[in-house]
Amino acid sequence: MERTFLMIKPDAVQRNLIGEVVSRLERKGLKLVAAKLFQANEELAKEHYAEHVEKPFYNKLVSFITSGPVFAMVVEGKNVVEVTRTIVGETNPTKAAPGTIRGDYGIDLGRNIIHGSDSNESAAREISLWFDESELNDYILND
Ligand code: CMP
Repeated sequence: MERTFLMIKPDAVQRNLIGEVVSRLERKGLKLVAAKLFQANEELAKEHYAEHVEKPFYNKLVSFITSGPVFAMVVEGKNVVEVTRTIVGETNPTKAAPGTIRGDYGIDLGRNIIHGSDSNESAAREISLWFDESELNDYILND
């Protein structure tokens, strides 16, 4: 079964949207394997967003992600990267469809509520960056 990394960003944590977002994932039948409310330091944020290092918004992105706690998750399910990208919606909340997390709650490109891995390779990298193997839970989901 595939796994992905999802991170509810500081804007959504501060707006009390953790429950709403997790509820959408659960309703879709996805399995929460790990979750933690976590204050990322600059080193972790820079590593996480390393592919954007040359982008003009990189420094802003790193300072935003470290501005408050994030809710980091590992989620499991069939085709989970694709499924969660559909639930999350387009990066820009202005363009994200209603019914998607970003379409319903996102404000702008920075405050877009949630990050989700964009491929199985990114998922593996991001999961190992944010979680220790011992934090990943193995249990049966009855749905
Ligand atoms: P995320 O899925 O976390 O991956 C990279 C993030 O960069 C993206 O969501 C946006 O929040 C952010 N981003 C992308 N483009 C811009 C931009 N032009 N200005 C500010 N932030 C951006």
